[in-house]
Amino acid sequence: MFAEMFAQLGAMPNPISNDEYLARQNKLYQTLNQNDLLILCSSPETIHSNDVHHPYRTQSNLLYLTGWIEPDAVFCAINNDGTWESHLFVQPKDTLKEIWEGRRPGIEGAVANWPIDLAHSIDDLTEVLGQMVAKSSRIMHRMGVMSKVDDLVVSAIKKRDRARQRLGSGPISVEDPSNIIAEMRLIKSNSEIDQMKFASDVSSLAHIAAMMHGGGGASTENQLQSLIEGFFRYAGTSGWSYPSIVGSGENATILHYKENEDHCIDGDIVLIDAGAEFRGYAADITRSWPNNGKFTEAQKEIYQIVLDAQNAAISECIVGNPYTAPHEAARRVLAEGLIKLGVIDQNLDEALDMENGQLKNWYMHNTSHWIGLDVHDVGVYLPNGEPRLFEHGMCLTIEPGLYFGAWRPDVDCPEKYSNIGIRIEDDILITDGGPVILTEMCPKTIDEIESVVGTSN
Ligand code: GLY
Ligand code: MN
Ligand code: MN
Repeated sequence: MFAEMFAQLGAMPNPISNDEYLARQNKLYQTLNQNDLLILCSSPETIHSNDVHHPYRTQSNLLYLTGWIEPDAVFCAINNDGTWESHLFVQPKDTLKEIWEGRRPGIEGAVANWPIDLAHSIDDLTEVLGQMVAKSSRIMHRMGVMSKVDDLVVSAIKKRDRARQRLGSGPISVEDPSNIIAEMRLIKSNSEIDQMKFASDVSSLAHIAAMMHGGGGASTENQLQSLIEGFFRYAGTSGWSYPSIVGSGENATILHYKENEDHCIDGDIVLIDAGAEFRGYAADITRSWPNNGKFTEAQKEIYQIVLDAQNAAISECIVGNPYTAPHEAARRVLAEGLIKLGVIDQNLDEALDMENGQLKNWYMHNTSHWIGLDVHDVGVYLPNGEPRLFEHGMCLTIEPGLYFGAWRPDVDCPEKYSNIGIRIEDDILITDGGPVILTEMCPKTIDEIESVVGTSN
């Protein structure tokens, strides 16, 4: 089945070029002062058990500016007489370590192939970075990512305190550069979109593989998960961009369901929220479909309302619209639909009220988040308290849902819709020509879904 899916996938895009990384670095430097020192640290490795680590994923800002994916790395940039010079501290070549843990580019490899001017061994961090810190007036550094860099910065500040008192030498301050980088990351370049499109296509095909295998109520959540995640790797992505949610029956009404271990019962809905990560870029797709391949009338009613809400929200993904417009559109359509079905016995304004409206009983999350290197990507939603206006190149999810968990003690779930959980999620690129659905390859209408579910059984 995977070979058949794979044949539908376009070619892998070119990786992001060193020229593009250098352009990003230069753009960031434009926002800095000459006596600033910029520092970006890799994430720490984390333990799975005893001496076994989780698969490594570095910090997205470091990835965004350098493409460097190895652990134990620090990027910094300092201005020498008007010219910015970039440095990367890396794990040095070490044959014994490489025999056990894998190859390393090392110092020479880093300078030869990555967009940096100079590389050093991470073992020399304290000495080399210490000298740079001592010379700078403002350190652009996010505390809390790598403790040895934090210690170095704190110790430099303490020393400078004394020097300032004795000599009156320049001020030193520490500022987090994350917000500046987040503004840059919010607008995706064409080559970033290429990576996201590939992640989206792989994810769409993985969802199709699961749908084809479903049907008849014979599968388990873990089997569907294995198909999805198996295809992520088969197709050449690094795997999931967030842990897959595969929930059948009442599990579909748990927003971030984790166990993925139940049987999929004939007649229930299975909700799958799963996306691949490709070269660091995320996809995030949710589809909800009947285990036996045929929606019941009640399931259809709810599904169609969510689909209408999603389409209404996508139509609001227009340059110049506020970030809140899709959420408002989705909420309105969901509330209208539930009023029509008699699930909500309030008028539209009452139903939408955030305090007392009944919509929030069945739709309790936001419709969107930015997506990019992080699945919940960076970027302020309400700069200065006002919703951000959409610009060409922004990417966000549109993911309305309705969740009728009959197990919930806080609400009286309508019997007819008991344990129906529907979420429909796509990834949208805002363009001057209107919204582009990056995940459009994934079946979505009732007819499309019914024609795919169970076809490989
Ligand atoms: N998969 C998490 C989300 O949709 O935001
Ligand atoms: Mn999402
Ligand atoms: Mn999702």
